[in-house]
Amino acid sequence: MFKKLAAAAALLAMAGAASAATLYTTGVIDFNKTAKGSYLGKLGAAVPVTVLQKQGKQSRVRISGWALADYPSMIFAEPGVRIEYGSFDEESAVKTNLKAGEKVVQDNKWVKATAEGWVETAKLTGDLNGLWKQGKARHAQACSMCHAAPKPDHFTANQWASALPEKGGRTGHTRAGANAVMFKYLQAHAKK
Ligand code: HEC
Repeated sequence: MFKKLAAAAALLAMAGAASAATLYTTGVIDFNKTAKGSYLGKLGAAVPVTVLQKQGKQSRVRISGWALADYPSMIFAEPGVRIEYGSFDEESAVKTNLKAGEKVVQDNKWVKATAEGWVETAKLTGDLNGLWKQGKARHAQACSMCHAAPKPDHFTANQWASALPEKGGRTGHTRAGANAVMFKYLQAHAKK
């Protein structure tokens, strides 16, 4: 009896997990208010999303992470860590939830935050390892021309964010364009 119940519970848990499957963004992508458009902001590469609904070639997704309580227009993976999930022109796109959690890191107050919007289904994948392979290959190719490519765990995620600036710094040092997935690969495999 007990065994049967346990098996049933395990099956239920699996079914639940399958229906709320986590997919990942394959690059930096637009995040819209409706399936037809109305731009809200952008999601970063390799960001986990929960698919809520599908319509034509679009999916409504939710991202969950942390935002600065005073500047909730960006969502990050963790408080105080510059692993960016989303950046929004419309602050109203971000819902913060103080009750779900808050944390102070270096005098900044962080709160749990979510955002829901529409993205192109074709720009989502279930294959996170495939994305990391892509990032690794790009790193080997683009970062060893002038110096030995620094190993991912040579720096912390925040140090990688400084080394590869958004707007591009010294030659080859950018997280933008073809480096977007690589940048997330480096942060995900960074020194803890
Ligand atoms: C065109 C040549 C060139 C390419 C390509 C290049 N680098 Fe560099 N990198 C440099 C030079 C020159 C320095 C040292 C001088 C400096 O810091 O400006 C450097 C220093 C660094 C440093 C240490 C300094 C710091 O910012 O903390 C890191 C980390 C780094 N590079 C990462 C990368 C990564 C990752 C890539 C691939 C996206 C890359 N580099 C591609 C030329 C290059």
